[in-house]
Amino acid sequence: MKLTRRQLLKTTGASAALSYTAPFSVADATEDTFQLHAQPQSLYWFANKATDVWGYSHNRLEFQQHIPVSVKLVNQLSEPTTVHWHGVRVPNAMDGVSGLTQPPVQAGESFTYQFTPKDAGTFWAHAHHDTYRQLALGLYTPIIVKEAQPYQVDQDLLFVADDWLLNRKEQIDKDSFEDTHAWSHGGRMGNFLTINKEKTPTFEVTAGERVRLRLMNTANSRVMEFTFPDVEVTLIAKDGQPLKTPIPHNESILIAPAERYDVIIDIPLTSKKQIDIIESSGKKPFLAARWNITRTTSNSEYGAVPALPANPLPNQDFAVQHNIKLDMQGGAMGNLQAALYKGEKLTVRELVKNKQTWTFNGIANMPEQPLVTVKPGDGVEIELRNETRWPHAMHMHGHHFLAQNEVTGSTIWQDTTLVMPGQSKIIRFVAETEGKWLLHCHMLEHQVAGMITYFEVTG
Ligand code: C2O
Ligand code: CU
Repeated sequence: MKLTRRQLLKTTGASAALSYTAPFSVADATEDTFQLHAQPQSLYWFANKATDVWGYSHNRLEFQQHIPVSVKLVNQLSEPTTVHWHGVRVPNAMDGVSGLTQPPVQAGESFTYQFTPKDAGTFWAHAHHDTYRQLALGLYTPIIVKEAQPYQVDQDLLFVADDWLLNRKEQIDKDSFEDTHAWSHGGRMGNFLTINKEKTPTFEVTAGERVRLRLMNTANSRVMEFTFPDVEVTLIAKDGQPLKTPIPHNESILIAPAERYDVIIDIPLTSKKQIDIIESSGKKPFLAARWNITRTTSNSEYGAVPALPANPLPNQDFAVQHNIKLDMQGGAMGNLQAALYKGEKLTVRELVKNKQTWTFNGIANMPEQPLVTVKPGDGVEIELRNETRWPHAMHMHGHHFLAQNEVTGSTIWQDTTLVMPGQSKIIRFVAETEGKWLLHCHMLEHQVAGMITYFEVTG
């Protein structure tokens, strides 16, 4: 079943300025071009009251696997910014890391990003300059890279979860951006949950339908937990990368900042009219979104959930040439004594003055030397040792790695993985593209307070 434009508009609700590109014919396309404006925006979560945020001109970006894209970022903000294509394997100069892969794009200026998506799947674009502030203000948008061979579902829906910290005036609480107490604990947690930047949206579905839901956590620091009662959930992809075999999963899904899960949800013919989707990470369960289920007269059965077509990734049993350890230390209740910061050895007191509380291998924030230098094609293994009292969502740029995943219960390709307090987790990858690639905690307050490093791939 193909979506008509009317159905699409219906299913995406009241989202303004939704851009839907017509079914695409590869034959006549050489490049997809976009103008992406980074701009102040208003969201209407409270009756007639605007909440001022920052955002992009597109509620989503749709690319085609293997088709070159060109995105012109137009910076209409009052400060510099960049765009990082989280999970998309791009040339290093297109990675959008302010100060590492490009100078920030100044207010009023523009920069054109060009790359060809190798992988189909669910990714996102977000600012990578003062990331903890600019993301908290809303500077992100989901990316769907369409499979070159289409994957059949009745509806393809985004489920982009964010938690915002609002003040009593229902505006973003900017006073807490620099709250170093939060930085040294779990990060700056929000008090208001949105899905697709909407408050408790309703998804219109029909009993008997097969829905692909692209679940994504764009929060600064909150690890979320979603339950989908009364429907059958099957996991088909993590961080854009298809699972070899779809995995039925009827428990809740724990999803850390920056992680994505693509799931297939079959809406039973016998279902109720309305089903709630619950976020349960907090003390009280929170109503995140709803299914509004229309009856159908058909009684078709869905078949087994097929796997997505594979993306071009390395063979899983590559040889490893580099074994690295990454000791993660610091934070509240940690035992950090001293660390290197900008090449100087500082005591904890001095670190705190510089707003640094976390370290990788004894270094707070960007090191002067890369964690490791490797060649394209080298196999690399990094043992992430979380010696802190806090969970961390570790993200690697430019590459997907193999690591154990607690939701699927297997070792899979990912670009972000949750490492629990006291846990040691091995990630393995094949160095691919030349350049300097970040490895950091995607709890963005941890990143700014020290949890960031990089490795270099050079030929
Ligand atoms: Cu999603 Cu370094 O970022
Ligand atoms: Cu962290």
